[in-house]
Amino acid sequence: MPDQPLSIDVRFPLGPARSYEVVVGDGVLAELGSRLSALAGAARCLLVADSGVPQGEVERAAASLRAAGCEPVTRVIHGGEAHKTWDAAGSLLSDMAALGLERRHPVVALGGGVVGDISGFVASAYRRGVPFVQCPTTLLAMVDASVGGKSGVNLPGPPGAGTLKNMAGAFYQPVLVLVDTSVLGSLPLRHLRAGLTECIKHAMLCDSVPRRDPGLLESTRSALRAWKGVRPAGAPLAELVARNVALKASVVAQDEREELSGGGRALLNLGHTFGHALETAPGSTLLHGEAVGLGLIAAATTASALGLVGAECERLTRELVEHAGLPLEVHGLAPADVRARMAHDKKVESGRLRLVLPTGPGRATVVEGPSEDAVITGLLAVLRRP
Ligand SMILES: NC(=O)c1ccc[n+]([C@@H]2O[C@H](COP(=O)([O-])OP(=O)(O)OC[C@H]3O[C@@H](n4cnc5c(N)ncnc54)[C@H](O)[C@@H]3O)[C@@H](O)[C@H]2O)c1
Ligand SMILES: [Zn+2]
Repeated sequence: MPDQPLSIDVRFPLGPARSYEVVVGDGVLAELGSRLSALAGAARCLLVADSGVPQGEVERAAASLRAAGCEPVTRVIHGGEAHKTWDAAGSLLSDMAALGLERRHPVVALGGGVVGDISGFVASAYRRGVPFVQCPTTLLAMVDASVGGKSGVNLPGPPGAGTLKNMAGAFYQPVLVLVDTSVLGSLPLRHLRAGLTECIKHAMLCDSVPRRDPGLLESTRSALRAWKGVRPAGAPLAELVARNVALKASVVAQDEREELSGGGRALLNLGHTFGHALETAPGSTLLHGEAVGLGLIAAATTASALGLVGAECERLTRELVEHAGLPLEVHGLAPADVRARMAHDKKVESGRLRLVLPTGPGRATVVEGPSEDAVITGLLAVLRRP
């Protein structure tokens, strides 16, 4: 990791007005105020802080804003999927109106993916859009959720369907993303590991994305080996975060709204059709990253059953997931329930399943209508009876 913070540019085809910087580094939260005032000088802002983030970090962010002449109004909200609700967004919007916040007053999110997604949605809706800044504080939010502009909240579905993820939301790009890797020091190990899944996913795509990073698969493999049994931290973690942000940024810049068929942003769903089904099946207690780790194994097994890859791809995927300290199997979920939930996936078109599957080391593609046998083989690779 360089001494200076690493800056990654996300540029969209719509031109410089839509571009923004992602700054990755140890301690960069102290630069929040000066960087924001250079972009959107404003006398006030709403600072939405995650209740899991230590008070000291919230103070650090607030002090930096104040020093730059931007008075923050802080609202603390909860992370965790159960809190990603319409009510959470609504009460922030009501507060903003009651506080008399104006169109040029930014919303700053300091938290995990849940807080970032809610805050982005609120920023997109308040007065039809105010400047938005992301300061992600979980590994998952750093390498994935904070870059790309997807925001939203969950809604209750029809009877029996459970909660519908991200059913109300907007594509709304931030003006700045500030990734301070030192904040990960307080993140519980289970959540840190869950975030490593998205790094494994990126590594499995590193040769299929616009900004190819062919060495990422091997670097991720060695980093995970080194971290087996110890907490990921320090420069190697910061460097991995930066390379993952660069990879995601290149995909999003090419296909902001997931419109390219057969590639583009859709590739980032590797492991996610299986993963979302495992995460939301009745009785599941898996975190998103844990479910996607299993989904990556299921995808590699399905690809192997379809003859797209050899058995070594499945072995490598298992190795990466295992070295990240993530579960390799889950007990007590009924295969039929999980398969039924896969049919509800947003990527299903006209009843045909579309899966992103590996085609080689660091490569993946979208497969339309894979055979049912191969899909079930993939699922059975991770489902165990109680
Ligand atoms: N917008 C996108 O493109 C995108 C992409 C991927 C995931 N997501 C969304 O992200 C969400 C998951 O995000 P997540 O994994 O960050 O979970 P999360 O936001 O629920 O955070 C996990 C837990 O960590 C706590 N926490 C956060 N930062 C902490 C810190 N520094 N120290 C201690 N505790 C801390 C939170 O309070 C929470 O309890 C999901 O809702 C998912 O849909 C969005
Ligand atoms: Zn994910």
